[in-house]
This record gives sequence, structure tokens and C-alpha cells, in this order.
Amino acid sequence: MKPVFATIAIIGAGAMGRGIAQIAAQAGSVVRLIDNNPQAPLQAKDLLAEQWGKLVDKGKMDASQAQACQDRIRPAQIAEVTGCTLVIEAIVEKLEVKQALLAQLEDLVGETAILASNTSSLSITHIGAALKRPQRLAGFHFFNPVPLMKVVEVICGLKTDPAVAQALIQFTREIGHTPVQAADTPGFIVNHAGRGYNTEALRLASEGVADFQTIDRVLRDQVGFRLGPFELMDLTGLDVSHPVMESVYHQYYQEARYRPSVITAQRLAGGVLGRKTGQGFYRYFDGKAEGAVEPPAPVVAQLPPVWVSPRAARRAELLQLLKDLGAQIETGVSPSGQALTLVAPLGFDVTTVAVVERLDPARTIGIDLLIEDAATRRRVLATNPATRSDMREAAQALFARDGKAVSVIRDSGGFITQRVVATIVNIASDMCQQGICTPTDLDTAVTLGLGYPLGPLAMGDRWGPANVLEVLFNLQTVYGDPRYRPSPWLRRRGAIGISLRHEEA
Ligand code: NAI
Repeated sequence: MKPVFATIAIIGAGAMGRGIAQIAAQAGSVVRLIDNNPQAPLQAKDLLAEQWGKLVDKGKMDASQAQACQDRIRPAQIAEVTGCTLVIEAIVEKLEVKQALLAQLEDLVGETAILASNTSSLSITHIGAALKRPQRLAGFHFFNPVPLMKVVEVICGLKTDPAVAQALIQFTREIGHTPVQAADTPGFIVNHAGRGYNTEALRLASEGVADFQTIDRVLRDQVGFRLGPFELMDLTGLDVSHPVMESVYHQYYQEARYRPSVITAQRLAGGVLGRKTGQGFYRYFDGKAEGAVEPPAPVVAQLPPVWVSPRAARRAELLQLLKDLGAQIETGVSPSGQALTLVAPLGFDVTTVAVVERLDPARTIGIDLLIEDAATRRRVLATNPATRSDMREAAQALFARDGKAVSVIRDSGGFITQRVVATIVNIASDMCQQGICTPTDLDTAVTLGLGYPLGPLAMGDRWGPANVLEVLFNLQTVYGDPRYRPSPWLRRRGAIGISLRHEEA
């Protein structure tokens, strides 16, 4: 079956234009490829031929199909857009340049032709302001590399005709990708929802809670992220990720939730960008990161008895775990003079809990139990400034007895996982509150666009909207920072205990 747009034009034959051309040609559209650099469409066609050659070698396509795709790519001049029913621009990311091009296209194409912009950071409404008929312009945001990144954001500006978005949604499906619909807001869905992961990790590092590598290990092993935030920033490069953090922050008029970090600003200024410069948060030799080897857990001959606070999160589960680890558990109303004292707060720091519960801080250690122990590959303990080293070592030795990795971090409200997960869930909830997209599209866009193990709302559901809310309330108390203010959308759902993916009638 022929796709809804039989002949399309793509202006800008760079990384994105070429990728879009590939999947459109594979789906059967004829693609006129246009660029102000006359060599670019020809080079793109050669690169695509190589690409299809590889697919033939892998047996994913036969030679005649590859040839047919090749034949559908037609390097062209701008005047040849006339007969195209869809024109996608993927040129340089500059408002005035995009506006000038689209205004020129408007006079060349037919009445019913659709104009689409692959912009990742400009407002569709603003781009459309230069057009006589902004109704026919929509955002059509692909991700890099296009053939592998299966999600496309379709964005309506204030004046976009909804039928234009519907046609792009249908075309997205025909070319084998998944469409999601976003309101015309800074960062659309993926680049907005992705703010929590890096910014909160940077915040933790700047407070000295743990080093970059430990934060990466914890988020990989506890939550299941494929890459830790610092590994991810090294891969993307700070020349790309720091400006995105700044852009979303400023476009939202300095909203505290998106506040960037001086850590990345300084590194960017110093050219410490990541893999591409050989040094980022890690050093790279022959393309491989040099990481410190994790020291083994200490061996402690005689472990002290253990007492667990009655207010610990997942207390029954923690007691069972201690039993399985062979700990001697105290059952008194308060700990004996020798006991290692365990607390498991949500959002609060270990210091505050020791004070409020009148525990001896020298023997008090915290454990992060937002996520159930069985679902993680690492346990995270936190000391407070008064914790004795023998107690820290005893706790570390005890929790490593079954071979599971253990990290010990400095005291901070919410440990690492709680803070990062709660921030991600809160930003996503606020996006739903603002009506940027549906809860379903949000989770789809984030899992496909960012590769998270779960969508942000599914993450909140998995570990409990009420728990996430409690983490945020308590973080606000500890830090007095509006960045932890829970979105009303999350508050309502957390308070009555319904799924974050529940869509209101
Ligand atoms: P690129 O630099 O690889 O390619 C841009 C192409 O457009 C170049 O071949 C250039 O010669 C051509 N061009 C520039 N101005 C032109 C004009 N006025 N008329 C005709 N051709 C012109 O850039 P890339 O990475 O492909 O990005 C293109 C667009 O896609 C930008 O708006 C960017 O923000 C957006 N985008 C980029 C992503 C990425 O990861 N690279 C992801 C999603 C969107």
C-alpha cells in the first residue's frame, strides 16, 4: 500500500534529513532531497546506498528492494517541491532561517500541501508566525538516529489545523514509527521529561553525596537505567546536553525543577565534554571508560545486633532480609547499647530521623528501600556525620553477605534513587497537569526516546504514587527548595491512591 504522502520533499540533507528520507523511501514514498549545499543531497544518496547495502548483506532486505529505495531518493532543487503534498524541513536550528525557508515554500507548494518542521527546540507557533497560512504547519520531531529511534513527536502550534496533525500521525505509522502528540511547549515531551535524570544527579554530585561513578552505579543497579546519568552525558557530550538544560530552564522562566548545574557549565567552558574529547566525567582510552574498581565490602568478624526503627519503609521486608542475612535482630522498643540502628526514611535524611526518633546517631545508618530489595542489584546505605566507622563497616559487611553490591553514601534527604525517581515522576506529572500530552503518550515517548526501563508514570505506579509523594514532601522540608514541590496532579493521584496512568474521563 502506498503511504498517504506519495511524494514528499525534505529540505536539509544532513543527519536528520537523511534518516527521515531513509524510512520514508523504505515505506514507498518518493523523496525529493533538497539542500542549499548542492553536494549534500548527492552525498546523502551515497550514504543511503551504503546503508541499504548493509541491510541487504544482513538479509534484512533483498537487492531489488534496496534498488527501489535508491530510485525513490531524488536529489532536487527547491523549485521541485511544487508537486509534493508534504514538505519536511530539517535545516539549521535557527528561527529566522526556518521562517524564511517556510515562507518561500508556502508560495511554491499547492493549496493542500502540509509543511512540517523537525525543530527540536523552537516553538511551532513562533515559526508559523511568518506564514500566511500557519494552519498547515506542524512540528514533526524525529530523533537521532532516525531509523533506530522509533518515536516521533507531532506538535500542533496554536493555529495548526488538527487535520494536519492527524495526517502526520498516519504517515508516522506508515513509515514504521510510533507517533505521540505534544503541545507546543519547550522541549515538547522527550526533552522536557528527560530533565529530571541529569539535573538531579548533578545536584547530588554537587552536594558531595557520592561521586559520579557511584551515582551511575546506583541508578543502573537499583532502577535499571541502561546508562548512569554521567555516562549518558559523556556519551551525548556536554556541548549538546548543557545547552538543552539551559534552554528548557530559561524557556520556562527559571522554573526551579529544571535548574541546570554549575558542574556542567564549568566543564563545557573548559572543553571537558565527554567521550568526544577523551575526558568527561570519566577518562577514555581507546574509546573505553576508565573507571575505578569497586572496593570489596569489609570483612567484620563479629557483627553487632541490629535494631530496626518501627517507622522504616518496607519494615517487614527489611526484617525478613536481615533474617535471611543471618543478623541477630533486636525486638525491644528501643535499641540496646550495642545495636546497629537501622532507619529507612522516604525523603528525610538519616540525621533528621535520628534526632526525631531519639536514636544514637553514632550507631544509626539509613537504607534506601523505595524500591523493594528483591528488584534491585545493589543496596544503598547512608551514614550521618556522627556515624562511627565500626558501625558503617558492620552494616556494609552485613548487607553484602549474600554477594549483593553495597554502596555507602553521605547523608542526604532521599538517598540517590528516591531523589532521582521522585524528580522524574514529578516532572512527568506536571507535564500531564499542563496538558502537554496524555499519560500514555508521555510514557511511550520516554521509553522509546530515552530508553528508560519504565515510563516516568509507570515508574511512579511501580513504587507507589503515595511513596513518591512522601519523598517529595519530605525533600521539601529538608531542602526548602521549590524544585521538590509536588505537582498538584501527582498530589491528587497520590492522595487517593490511583494509578498515575489513569486518564480522567
Ligand atoms: P545537519 O547540520 O546534519 O544538517 C542540516 C542540513 O541543512 C545541512 O546539510 C545544511 O547544508 C542544510 N541547510 C542549512 N540551512 C539550509 C537552508 N536555509 N536551506 C537548505 N538547506 C539548509 O543538522 P541535523 O542534525 O540534521 O539537524 C537538522 C534539524 O533537525 C535541526 O532543526 C535540528 O535541531 C533538528 N534535530 C536534530 C537532531 C539531532 O540529534 N541531530 C534531533 C532532532 C532534531
